Amino acid sequence: MQTVVIKGPSTLKGQINISGSKNASLPIIISTLLAKGDCFIHNVPNLRDTRFLISILKNLGCILDFQKNTLFVKNSTITKKSADYEYVRQMRASIVILGPAISRYKKFKIALPGGCSIGTRGIDLHLNALNLMGVKISIKNGYVNAERKKDKLDPIIHKFPRISVGATQNILMAATLANGNSKLQNCAIEPEVIDLINFLNKCGACIKVIKRTITIKGVEELKLNDYKVIPDRIEAGSYILATMATKGRLKLNNFNPKDLTLPLKVYREMGLKIKKISNSSFEINCKTLKPIKKIITKEFPGYPTDLQAQLIATQLKSGLKSKVVENIFENRFIHIPELRRFGANLSINGKTVTIHKTLNLLGAEVMATDIRASFSLIIAAMMSKGKTVINRIYHLDRGYEDFDLKLKKCGVNIIRKK
Ligand code: UD1
Repeated sequence: MQTVVIKGPSTLKGQINISGSKNASLPIIISTLLAKGDCFIHNVPNLRDTRFLISILKNLGCILDFQKNTLFVKNSTITKKSADYEYVRQMRASIVILGPAISRYKKFKIALPGGCSIGTRGIDLHLNALNLMGVKISIKNGYVNAERKKDKLDPIIHKFPRISVGATQNILMAATLANGNSKLQNCAIEPEVIDLINFLNKCGACIKVIKRTITIKGVEELKLNDYKVIPDRIEAGSYILATMATKGRLKLNNFNPKDLTLPLKVYREMGLKIKKISNSSFEINCKTLKPIKKIITKEFPGYPTDLQAQLIATQLKSGLKSKVVENIFENRFIHIPELRRFGANLSINGKTVTIHKTLNLLGAEVMATDIRASFSLIIAAMMSKGKTVINRIYHLDRGYEDFDLKLKKCGVNIIRKK
């Protein structure tokens, strides 16, 4: 199993090109199942997760070619009507295949995704809404079996009882080819959801968003069209926090600050300085890092749960009883025991972590546990004196394209060991 070794302390200095968004690429690639024709999707990050999704779709019979951040979708016709356990258990986002697949084909079966290290992550919101669209669902032998009797899915007027990114994407995709007009309320409106909608509209869908309400006019068919995926706001936020934690200076290219409006407001209060060079290039630095009082993770436009672990790591030396509350996932603090290995003084009470100031952090042997938590270990390693070994870095490879090369180019003493 691969590891990375970081010798700290390090200061992040140089420039980083932000990759295309992972969480926008995944549903956009899945949504090609809805459409006919072919297309190029540009700015797709070359990550374990994107390569894995491509292999799932190939296994279902689609013809795709992925080269240098561009995915060519030659044919998105499914010949096999089952997404198997071996694939789905490795990537929860694959549940989003169900909506588009059952809207194009009368039967489809997908393995139950199960829980993961950050929580149980149910799929009730996905299944209940599909059921309301005329899909008969049964769960047998670890599989969700979906079947529709009518020629098309029924349109749906539905208020999600809770906000879910994946359920919003799944159901809005299913509704694009439904027999009439649908209205979804209490939707997730993350930039990645909006990017999916923009792609679908470019392919002939008719989807509108007003606040948390999404209306979808069912159309006869979609035709694939070329598209460029948005930059990854979570990757950008992670490098911004790493720059702040190490009092560095960075030029960020291919970055859209509008997708990070609230986090940037918080980071400015913590001491971040940001200067616009062009519409997509920004210079950032942070000379003095100030503690935050309390941050609560929330759905967009709130503070993202995917930048929670990195924020905690950044606050380790400046936190004066700073508090971070995790409001989205029930178990997203698995990085805390790992951060303690550096000497961090952190306490957990239910959904809240309190960060007590730690002056001396020392390198340690640690283990990556989920994609974003893993980056908090990188930040802690850069702030610590001495050698850190991070095990199980496949989690980082799932979400951060060329992270070791990008960090090395900015002066970090980092080596990947095979
Ligand atoms: C997506 C992102 C992930 C991010 C999360 C929240 C992708 C590939 N992943 O995950 O990086 O952290 O949004 O911003 O885009 N829930 C249910 N029932 C359901 C669906 C969700 O109870 O049917 C719960 C989940 O357990 C979780 C909460 O709702 O507690 C939010 O999950 P959701 O927004 O669905 O996250 P994902 O789409 O899985």
